[in-house]
Amino acid sequence: MPKMSERKIYTLAIESSCDDTSAAVLCNDVVLSNIVARQAIHEEYGGVVPELASRAHQQNIVPVVDVAIKKAGITKKDLNCIAFTQGPGLMGSLLVGGSFAKSMSMALDIPLVAVNHMKAHILAHFIDEDGFDKPTFPFLALTISGGHTQIVKVNSFFDLEIIGETTDDAVGEAFDKSAKILGLPYPGGPLIDKFAQEGNPKAFPFTKPKVDGLNFSFSGLKTQILYFIQKNAAENPNFIEENKADICASIQYTIINILMDKLKLAVAETGINQIAIGGGVSANSGIRTTLKEAEKKYGWKSYIPKFEYTTDNAAMIGIVGYYNFLEENFSQADVTSKARIEF
Ligand code: KG4
Ligand code: ZN
Repeated sequence: MPKMSERKIYTLAIESSCDDTSAAVLCNDVVLSNIVARQAIHEEYGGVVPELASRAHQQNIVPVVDVAIKKAGITKKDLNCIAFTQGPGLMGSLLVGGSFAKSMSMALDIPLVAVNHMKAHILAHFIDEDGFDKPTFPFLALTISGGHTQIVKVNSFFDLEIIGETTDDAVGEAFDKSAKILGLPYPGGPLIDKFAQEGNPKAFPFTKPKVDGLNFSFSGLKTQILYFIQKNAAENPNFIEENKADICASIQYTIINILMDKLKLAVAETGINQIAIGGGVSANSGIRTTLKEAEKKYGWKSYIPKFEYTTDNAAMIGIVGYYNFLEENFSQADVTSKARIEF
């Protein structure tokens, strides 16, 4: 048998924590396929409806896995490992992916790896991609998604320590809820980003919350924006339409400033100046530009993942599966999905 390092390990990964059904196949740390079925149904409701999400996962999971395996150019029999998202996420959604992964690992008699979705957003940086450097340990990760906002000290693949997190809304929620106040459809984050590009970020100054240490708070900002819009719309019913770009740019600028203040503090406290971002909000163009500027301004090294690995995807679950496979960190058949999960 070839040495582990020379072997080709094929991992099938499944991600179903929220409203995207995704399956990926990796050969070692290289992604062969990464299929994501987005659930458009939630747009009409202005947010993810858990019951509808689980049903859509049930509908999508078989075809999505099938396409991922076909696109990878392998067959089920080539697989060495199945990785799936154990949590955190919506319970009904997690159960669909988890049960499917368990059954498939039993049927193929191959090991199963349960993966923490938030760790996967960080470790996505270790997917082998042309033109993308991998961070070296230790580094700081800023995970910014619709459900989480964390600063994590990453010491190794298996030793990750949360050193700051939100005390209320996640940064993605701050984007989405602000967008909702402006009458934009869900998810509003990408739309704020789009309009912000045409606007003046200093047009409307919003105040930043005062939160101790490395923790965040975003609920006050949302309330501030709501009152600001209500007041101005009462005076001018066309206020939002006439100032959309400036409002979006100002909101985005404030959110980025909040994130940057805490990152600067984290760098000062840990002495680590390698910053990797992950999670859906790291698709934000303002955050990307600001981090690149910080390389010159503060001497940081920043790592920004390939766009398709920022939002929820199974490839990031697969890379964690692969590194656990190498260490033989396998999950047992009685492993359960968890809506909340220890880091
Ligand atoms: O990681 P993700 O796909 O799902 C969760 O695990 O939450 O993150 C989704 C979040 C949503 O709140 C969405 O509005 C936000 O990421 N998002 C953005 C951008 N693209 C996605 N927020 C700001 N700017 C963007 N370009
Ligand atoms: Zn996510």
